[in-house]
Amino acid sequence: MQVFNSFKSYDTKVLPPTPEAIEQAARLLIDGEVVAIPTETVYGLACNAKNPLAVAKIFRAKGRPQDNPLIVHISDMKMLGELVTSVSPTAKALAEHFWPGPLTMIFEKTPLVPYEVSGGLETVAIRMPNHKVAISIIRASGLPLAAPSANLSGKPSPTTAQHVFDDLNGKIPAIIDGGQCEYGVESTVVAVGGDTVRLLRPGAITVDDLKQVVSSVEVDDGVLAPLDENEQVPSPGMKYQHYSPNARVVIVDADIDAFLEYTTQYLQEHLDERIFGLVFDMDLDKVQNKLPCLSYGDTSLNQANQLFERLRELDKLGAQTVFARSPNQDGIGLAVYNRLLRAAGFEVVTVEK
Ligand code: TXA
Ligand code: MG
Repeated sequence: MQVFNSFKSYDTKVLPPTPEAIEQAARLLIDGEVVAIPTETVYGLACNAKNPLAVAKIFRAKGRPQDNPLIVHISDMKMLGELVTSVSPTAKALAEHFWPGPLTMIFEKTPLVPYEVSGGLETVAIRMPNHKVAISIIRASGLPLAAPSANLSGKPSPTTAQHVFDDLNGKIPAIIDGGQCEYGVESTVVAVGGDTVRLLRPGAITVDDLKQVVSSVEVDDGVLAPLDENEQVPSPGMKYQHYSPNARVVIVDADIDAFLEYTTQYLQEHLDERIFGLVFDMDLDKVQNKLPCLSYGDTSLNQANQLFERLRELDKLGAQTVFARSPNQDGIGLAVYNRLLRAAGFEVVTVEK
């Protein structure tokens, strides 16, 4: 009798990105294994996108729902041609402008892309990462690499090799350590239609960046609001409560004084609860001695960089309730807010100022 859920346990190696390690990663990928690799956004858990058995290993290691499709990573435009039926003039212009970089586009797939990658859809998400190590590994393997973020499904995305190790130790053979990721939030995901794009997931390529190339950008409702139960989902990832730490996260929309008033009153009424604030660096002076706190930067770029790491730290601290200050939503701030909203299960409290 065949045992389908036998789970091989690995001695997970964390390797610096030397030419030897890149060769080793390429060999593992060619052999149908999975390898965690750094990108400029977050770490990805990569495998040969053309091999359904390898793809199944990704879903198993992460505990990811089968209908949530993966992004395929390419190193040049020739690879794109094999994976998609056609590239519209707008998609071509976006690729020329933003690739390599943190932009993912949805295309109609060719039969070369297995349904295991596309989650049963006729479309496939593609991106060309702007990271030397990621590109070297794609080139050395000669393969398009399917790679979701390299976290356990539902956990914050990993922005360091240590985060990957914390989640996937024993479940994958190797992690290539490229240091801290440059952006810290996942790529911008868009669907292209005519000369407009629909933003499905905000990222480091902002709405204003996209508008430099296309005439109009529609932000999908799912970016800032929970989906109705029976609603057609444009991107399956929107359905899942991503990025959720163990703690209950609540976004508090208020200036720092109102934030403190609200949270310290809650604290007094819930003395047996482990409560933390997640505030901006500039708040720390005012917050001191009033509320145990972590801070996640002041600028949107810093917040993008730090948010997932702070959510992981809050879990380690055993936080039960986290009150987070509401970030600025401009530029890459929209991505920060989108991830925090999902971590909070869309729980937002507005305190009158
Ligand atoms: O920056 C990133 O995008 C990272 C790095 C590793 O490249 N990857 C990443 O992958 O964030 P993942 O799997 O965590 O997120 C992929 C998102 C999901 O929300 C998924 O639903 C959406 O892209 N997606 C993938 N294929 C799609 C498709 N065919 N149509 C619509 N959405 C799709
Ligand atoms: Mg993910």
